[in-house]
Amino acid sequence: MNRKKITYLCLILFSLVAFVLLIALPNKERASSSRNQNVAQVTGTADLLRDGQWSFLPGATKVPGGLRVANVGLALVHPNGSFAEDNPPVNLYGTRLAVDGDFAISATLGEQRGEGSVTLYGRVPVVLDEQRYEDQSVRMTMRQGSLHVQVTSGQDGALATKKTFIFSSKSRNQVTLVRSGGLLAFSVNGQKLGSVPEHDVFASKQLWFGFEAAESMLVSDLRAIELGGTIQVIDASSLRISEQNPHGLQRLADTRHSGLTVGTAVSLEPLVSDAAYSQLLGSGWFGAITTENALKAVTVHPLPNVYNFAGGDALVDFAKRHSLKVHGHALVFGEANPLWMRTLAKDRPEQLEAVMTEHITTVMTHYRGQMASWDVVNESFGEHDLNRKNIWYQAMGEAYIAKAFRAARQADPNARLFINEYGLEGSATDANEEKWENFLAMLDRQHALGVPIDGVGLQMHIDTPDDLVDPYMLRSRIRQLADRGLLVRISEMDVYGDNERLQARQFADVLRACIEEENCVEFATWGVGEGNGATAWVADGQLHTAPNLPFDAGMHARAAAEAMQRALTP
Ligand code: XIL
Repeated sequence: MNRKKITYLCLILFSLVAFVLLIALPNKERASSSRNQNVAQVTGTADLLRDGQWSFLPGATKVPGGLRVANVGLALVHPNGSFAEDNPPVNLYGTRLAVDGDFAISATLGEQRGEGSVTLYGRVPVVLDEQRYEDQSVRMTMRQGSLHVQVTSGQDGALATKKTFIFSSKSRNQVTLVRSGGLLAFSVNGQKLGSVPEHDVFASKQLWFGFEAAESMLVSDLRAIELGGTIQVIDASSLRISEQNPHGLQRLADTRHSGLTVGTAVSLEPLVSDAAYSQLLGSGWFGAITTENALKAVTVHPLPNVYNFAGGDALVDFAKRHSLKVHGHALVFGEANPLWMRTLAKDRPEQLEAVMTEHITTVMTHYRGQMASWDVVNESFGEHDLNRKNIWYQAMGEAYIAKAFRAARQADPNARLFINEYGLEGSATDANEEKWENFLAMLDRQHALGVPIDGVGLQMHIDTPDDLVDPYMLRSRIRQLADRGLLVRISEMDVYGDNERLQARQFADVLRACIEEENCVEFATWGVGEGNGATAWVADGQLHTAPNLPFDAGMHARAAAEAMQRALTP
């Protein structure tokens, strides 16, 4: 056979294989690409475990028999430490579905120790440090021959329906949910149990998965079954934004102010559920992300011997795919600590130093080489002086700061180490000289001890007219830090938004101040648009938002975004 013939034969063979794969296999999903991520149309049944992405689900490990789910103890702790609210894991950076019309989901649970749940969410829950807002979900909990169904629906997340069914339990139990005609019907091991009203849980046409085990369980099978409606399997971890916006803040900074990084705080929830948000992040608007809540101790270190890196790993993965730097937030902080740390602080404070050092070392070693910088110590001050109520201060006195930075430098010598603080930026009506002087004195004490602090993060939360920053004072303070050999990050900027023009001017003034001072290496906002960062909170069972960021809730530019673009294009 000559070479030409071989080429032809190969071509024919290749086309045949492609044909079989794409058309002839009836129950196989067809992969296509839309919005730059993997989307597969389901015809028949989809095997979601075999073909899905579950590696960023907290507590889950892929094993030969399926998905092993362990309790990672994720919980949100009330500010006064009095109780912890369950924060069950959701598969955010991975497999989810788009559904329309009738469908069924079946899950097989085995090797169950304690109760185990499968939750289907119509909307991604909003998870804040101390609050969780879950308003569209169906939770199916199995325990020894009973299936407990809980439908949560409605604006205020009010519980709509609770029902318990009895079935004869086997070593493995397959629970199936069928959505049809406004009802959710349940069966276990083929035995029909009954139904509950759907309460529009899937009106969003989205479906997210969550698994939770009181101790542990094996999810050995998970299927989506088409029943006349349409199902698409989407993999959020495959998202790749390729279009670049030449007028994005980081792109503008790159051409005119090399060395300046423009960043923002990022959470996975909007990143995987809001296409406009991820588009802004991936297209050159920003050059860096700060891990908003994913690496706070309450999330990353939920139990004494359990670390949960799932959320942080997902953010780092997204950042790598889009050439974004990552700033880690926050290793040592008086807030957002898990219950066990708080209890230890009260009962055995002498153990806190070892806990702190081990925590810093483990988290930073996990991300060694992947983080540009870290907030090693966050909000060590109160209104005027070192916060004496901070658990770390109470256990070690001021020495905790030096110990933390030394452990951090050792764990990742190449990451820049920051001390991050609020209320240092100097407002026009209240310069708070006392806090500023005390903070500088503290820095000088650290310097005298040779503590490896590379820079200071100025948070820049501007919540009221009294917080409005005077750019001249800000520059003079940035210079005082430069005199001490310290870098500066504007680390968490947001500005109350009742007056859009005033807000725009404030964002642009601060950005300009940062551009003009050489030691100011990064300017970061605390979220992209309304609802992100600290602009979302839950009160009276409702989710509230405020327009304190450069983009609105639909991720359209507000005047502030445009003013910052102009600040970068003189
Ligand atoms: C905020 C987050 O944005 C919220 O989602 C969370 O509920 C509370 O914390 N200063 C900080 C950040 O250093 O960690 C805070 O982030 C905002 C104030």
